[in-house]
Amino acid sequence: MPGEIVLVVGARPNFMKIAPLHAELSRRGVKQLLLHTGQHYDENMSKVFFEDLGMPEPDIYLGIGSGSHAEQTAKVMVEFEKICIEHKPSMIVVVGDVNSTIACSMVAAKLWIPSAHVEAGLRSFDRKMPEEINRILTDTICDLLLTPSLDGNENLLKEGVEKHKIHFVGNIMIDSLMINLERARNCNIHSLLNIEKGKYGVVTLHRPSNVDNQEAFERIITALEVVGGNIPLVLPLHPRTKKQAENFGLSDRLKSIPNIIITEPAGYLDFVSLMASAKIVLTDSGGLQEETTTLSIPCVTLRENTERPITVTEGTNTIVGNDTDTIISTVLDILENGGKTGCIPDLWDGKTAVRISDILLSHIKNND
Ligand code: UD1
Repeated sequence: MPGEIVLVVGARPNFMKIAPLHAELSRRGVKQLLLHTGQHYDENMSKVFFEDLGMPEPDIYLGIGSGSHAEQTAKVMVEFEKICIEHKPSMIVVVGDVNSTIACSMVAAKLWIPSAHVEAGLRSFDRKMPEEINRILTDTICDLLLTPSLDGNENLLKEGVEKHKIHFVGNIMIDSLMINLERARNCNIHSLLNIEKGKYGVVTLHRPSNVDNQEAFERIITALEVVGGNIPLVLPLHPRTKKQAENFGLSDRLKSIPNIIITEPAGYLDFVSLMASAKIVLTDSGGLQEETTTLSIPCVTLRENTERPITVTEGTNTIVGNDTDTIISTVLDILENGGKTGCIPDLWDGKTAVRISDILLSHIKNND
């Protein structure tokens, strides 16, 4: 009798990628274990997402917490191995590119437990990003590589991955977006923040390359000082960014950006609500590049590259890096001329969880 499918979540961007899959597998009566590594643990980085996404509490919580990359990855591995030995899952599913993703894949590979990687094949080709290392390694050892866009298939084939492992399934995060958009639009976050729909920008910032480097952080703040003079900005502050602003003595400057509203990290529904009615989004997040493309909101990405190039070629995304003048000129141009309209990429249609479930179940059946 095959064991459960273990669905792994660890950090904020994982929750909206697992919720639709968990719901679809539940609908089909599949036995599953929802496992949270605890990489993110603050209520507003974790619990609120379970509530907003209608996901049950995790069956297993490893409580790993923060640490250096080695510490965090190693602690997840030690604890996850015990769970795998005890439960003998029929398969594990990991999503995205965080430390929990590679840690759990590595454990499964060495215990010969079949594994699936959702959001496989994405590459920024920038090995200074910890996530790029996690992506490459995870795709090397997982059995099923489920890609959100065809560039993912091409990257994997170029790396020599066998074709039968690769399945183009679409973007599961967009399942969550489509399921929850109506509810999100009914949130009262705009009146709480006293902002008018369509007349503000949303900013998110947390990449080590932007906030762990003082000069880069200051270049972005200088740009936001000018942008804030043109349009009100909402900045839900990531804990890493808050900590680094304090370390560099930049907290006061951040708070003094004209017309900026700095909030705690937002929950899923509040954030989707903010993003869906924004005039522009400035971000260094990966997921937001995809969500803004789907919502047809112009996105200015404060990074040198992206692992999600389809958001640039087909969507609303413009890559600008962290040079002050480039950020300012791009944003002002979008505010004046409206920016790219873009289109929704193939299979970002809200049905990715259905396709993934079909593939997982047929793989388990064939291995039985
Ligand atoms: C992690 C992911 C990143 C993802 C991001 C989304 C890795 C390598 N990075 O980065 O890909 O885009 O999550 O948020 O996995 N902290 C808290 N409370 C929390 C979690 C973190 O205060 O609930 C603070 C801690 O001080 C911690 C720091 O934030 O040291 C960074 O957290 P960490 O999980 O190491 O990385 P992120 O920057 O969140």
